[in-house]
Amino acid sequence: MTRLGIIGSGSIGSAVARLAVAAGHEVLIANSRGPESLTDLIAELGPGARAGTVRDAAEFGDIPLLSVPLGAYGNLPVDAFAGKTVLSTGNYYPHRDGRIAQLDSLDSTTAEYEQALLPDTTIVKAFNNILFHHIPNLANSTPRTALPIAGDDADAKARVAAIVNALGFDTVDAGTLAESWSFEPESGAYTPIYAADQAALAADYLADPGAPVPADRLRELLDASHRPDVAARQF
Ligand SMILES: NC(=O)c1ccc[n+]([C@@H]2O[C@H](COP(=O)([O-])OP(=O)(O)OC[C@H]3O[C@@H](n4cnc5c(N)ncnc54)[C@H](OP(=O)(O)O)[C@@H]3O)[C@@H](O)[C@H]2O)c1
Repeated sequence: MTRLGIIGSGSIGSAVARLAVAAGHEVLIANSRGPESLTDLIAELGPGARAGTVRDAAEFGDIPLLSVPLGAYGNLPVDAFAGKTVLSTGNYYPHRDGRIAQLDSLDSTTAEYEQALLPDTTIVKAFNNILFHHIPNLANSTPRTALPIAGDDADAKARVAAIVNALGFDTVDAGTLAESWSFEPESGAYTPIYAADQAALAADYLADPGAPVPADRLRELLDASHRPDVAARQF
């Protein structure tokens, strides 16, 4: 990877942008408010980064990273993503996204729902099961921390794995989009697995620095994961 387009400059998008720039890659980042709203972030990121429109970010580099709330998918310039592999960090939070019947009923995983919203793309999931502040703390950790990835196309998944590796994490193949429930919210491989202290994380999640989870441990957690009762989700 030499160029990474990032759509979403919030907690996750900016955390990944920092890693990418630190690793010597070029970043083009976009949000809903336009490039002029990103002046401070670009100043912080330095000469490796620039701001642009969502279309600019979708077209910058090979695989755009999409890190926006589910409700924003309908406002994206779908044609700019056509034919692309898209690295999606998205999760379903009903309090933010509204209740979505096919997710509550378990007819779709969030990843399959996203794929239906962006039908001319190849969605690959990554970075959706780690808290934003654990990303810088656990990138290039010793031992290396692993993130799950899921997707329906082996080549697309391999290319996303290469990006995740370049950003400082190992990957574990968690299967298809249909199987990606294994690292959705409330599953057995969601964000608390990276806590240094799970009780402390529950009390004050921002105070927890995170702790490495190597690939073999993540594999065990994914294999033992349970499908969450999404309809009962309260957040
Ligand atoms: N926060 C976490 O720790 C975490 C962990 C794992 C996964 N996730 C998931 O990752 C995704 C992003 O989370 P986040 O915490 O980074 O969210 P966030 O901090 O709320 O940032 C969301 C970003 O999306 C942008 N956006 C919204 N609508 C857009 C549109 N139509 N076009 C372009 N950009 C748009 C926003 O733009 P503006 O800045 O202009 O408002 C903002 O930059 C979510 O699905 C979340 O559930 C989050």
